[in-house]
Parts: sequence; C-alpha cells; structure tokens
Amino acid sequence: NKKKRFEGKQVLITAGPTYEKIDPVRFIGNHSSGKMGLALAHVFASEGAQVQLIAGPGNYLVTSEAITVTRVSSADDMFDAVSSRFDQADVSVFAAAVADYRPAAPAEEKIKKSGESMTIELVKNKDIAAEMGKRKVKNQINVGFALETEREEEYAQEKMAKKNFDMIVLNSLNDNGAGFSVDTNKITIFSVDQKPKLFPLKTKQVVAEDIVNCIYEKLQS
Ligand code: PMT
Repeated sequence: NKKKRFEGKQVLITAGPTYEKIDPVRFIGNHSSGKMGLALAHVFASEGAQVQLIAGPGNYLVTSEAITVTRVSSADDMFDAVSSRFDQADVSVFAAAVADYRPAAPAEEKIKKSGESMTIELVKNKDIAAEMGKRKVKNQINVGFALETEREEEYAQEKMAKKNFDMIVLNSLNDNGAGFSVDTNKITIFSVDQKPKLFPLKTKQVVAEDIVNCIYEKLQS
C-alpha cells in the first residue's frame, strides 16, 4: 500500500504533435506519438493525481479514470485547451511537440498541382509553455521538455529560463532509442536550483517515474 504522493493534486499534461492545416487534405506535423506524455499521465494518476491530458493527433490508450483526455489538432487549439485549465493545475508538464509555425492562410479547397515549385508562407504560433510561464503563480510548477539535435545542454538551459520552467527534461535525437515514437527515452533533468541529473536509456514508463519523482522532490522543497 504505497503512499499516493499526488493525492489531491491537479496535473496538466500536453502530449503528441500538432497538425497545422495547409489545405483540407494536408498539414504540417511532426513525429511525436504522444507516448511520453501518456506515460507521464499514467504515473501521475497512479500517484493519486487528477490528470488533464491535452493530446494532439495520435492513439492514446488511457487505462485510468483519473485521466481526462481533451483531443486537439493545431497549436492554436492546444493553446486554448491548456489556457482554460492552467490556473487549476498544481503541476503542468509540457511534453507535446508543438509546431512553432503554421500556414498563414490555409486554402479552403485542395491545392492543385501547378508550377515547378511552390511557397507556403508560415506565421509564428503562440508559445503555450512560455505564455503559461508568465501566468504561473507561487506553488505552481511548470516542467518543460527540450528536444534538441545540437548544443543540447545550452539550449535546454536557455529554454528553461525563457519559458520560466522550474525544470526541463532534455532528450536528444542524437541518442539512439531516445525522443520521438520509440518506447524508450534517455533524459537529463535540469532544474533551476539543482545540478543536472543524467539517466540511462529506459522505457518511457520508467522515464516518466523518474520525472515524477523529481517533480515530487521539487514540490517538497
Ligand atoms: O511523443 P513521443 O513520440 O513519445 O516523443 C516524446 C517527445 C520527444 C515529443 C518529448 O519527449 C519531447 O521532447 N517533447 C517536446 C518537444 C519539443 O517540441 O520541444 P521544443 O524544444 O521545441 O519545445 C520546448 C518546450 O516548449 C516543450 O516543453 C514544448 O512542449 C513547449 N512548446 C513549444 C512550442 C510551443 N509553441 N508551445 C510549447 O508549449
């Protein structure tokens, strides 16, 4: 009968990719499967938390009644879903791979093939984590992810500061078995007030347990 460490806590998690519409049949997306966010949702739920999972396109097999899933497609949709729930959250974890840009003017009809090249103008999406970082009040904890391919540590630290995260989980596409789609991940956790913690390659389920342990420690401090 393990003590449930997140009993009475509300946890908000973003997961998966976003799809940014080009026309009725095409979109700009990425390789996120939502597995990392889903694993976090289950670990938090098993620790007694009420979990709001804001999930981009993908397949999510949810096996806990403590998890409420809100399905979204674009970064804009995800922003609205997060924004309306953020103030209630004790802990928010931003595991989604959100598109930084979207097509400026999605076509109403399917775009026909014509010239030898074509250009799609993109405009910047709102940064969900950064906006919630501005809204965060005392006793709320925001945890980000950083997916990098170069200068990993430096960029992760930069993102933590810029988005006002209390912690950031770095995963690198240079590590085999880490990042998108796979069932495993290899992470380093940076924290505003602690030395970086390096973890070996593990299943996303166990990685999620490590992350939740770190968040619990942070809540205690
Ligand atoms: O879904 P899986 O297949 O299991 O893969 C997991 C994962 C690799 C997607 C996940 O572990 C991960 O790293 N997620 C974050 C990916 C990412 O987009 O990182 P980023 O470095 O671009 O963004 C930094 C942080 O800001 C992230 O917490 C991101 O969710 C957040 N962000 C970014 C842009 C934006 N417009 N809004 C955001 O909230």
